[in-house]
Amino acid sequence: MIALAIAPLSLGAANPNKILIAYFSWGGNTETVANYIANQTQGELFRIEPVVPYPSEYTPCTEVALEERDTNARPAIKDKVANWDDYDVIFIGCPVWWHEAPMIIHTFAESYDFGGKTVVPFCTYAATYRDETLAKIVEITPAADHLEGFGARSSSTSGVTEWLNRIGMIPGNSGINDVAVDDNANIMVYNTTGNVVYDGIKSEVSVPQKGIYIVRSENKTEKVVL
Ligand SMILES: Cc1cc2nc3c(=O)[nH]c(=O)nc-3n(C[C@H](O)[C@H](O)[C@H](O)COP(=O)(O)O)c2cc1C
Repeated sequence: MIALAIAPLSLGAANPNKILIAYFSWGGNTETVANYIANQTQGELFRIEPVVPYPSEYTPCTEVALEERDTNARPAIKDKVANWDDYDVIFIGCPVWWHEAPMIIHTFAESYDFGGKTVVPFCTYAATYRDETLAKIVEITPAADHLEGFGARSSSTSGVTEWLNRIGMIPGNSGINDVAVDDNANIMVYNTTGNVVYDGIKSEVSVPQKGIYIVRSENKTEKVVL
């Protein structure tokens, strides 16, 4: 049995995903983590800013945030993302506010078409409700594919590089070498909409762009990020 990595399908760093890091940050922690992700992934930043600013004092801010959560509010966002269609991967980041994502993240999620996009959630938090907040971002972007998210304590960037590596978001490190198949002839590669982009039997090769693919060989089916 021959073990082959399918690295030849990868275009490598020359053709990266176009990545957007959209984030809301009240106190600066999420912004610190967003900047770090942008730096590592070479993505572009979009700051989600409310039309009506939140109070700058902590307690009044918590009161407004709670009111918004309890009334299922959709606070308006100042700007729009330019060239939305160009992006393949959208990181969405926010602080945990009252056990979940701030309502402005709902506004953001409802403002764009996430069909064909890959969403990567991240959040910063003091102590609790990290997983619920990451799950909420997934829940409110149902049209997208999703990759593993990350929660950072306050503004800590510890573990962020390892996470980005794991999900294949660091240019030049696609993660593709993790996939080995037994028989090159039987490899089929599908994109996330189910179309064949590589057929090992017919040898019809159209080299995939960076993105997410399902690779099938005789005894394995794996999700791969190029
Ligand atoms: C309104 C409000 C609600 C919060 N609720 C939570 C919470 O439920 N769980 C938690 O661990 N931290 C909570 N925090 C703390 C923030 O999630 C944490 O400090 C975060 O890193 C702040 O990010 P930022 O500086 O980008 O705004 C809350 C903070 C505020 C202002």
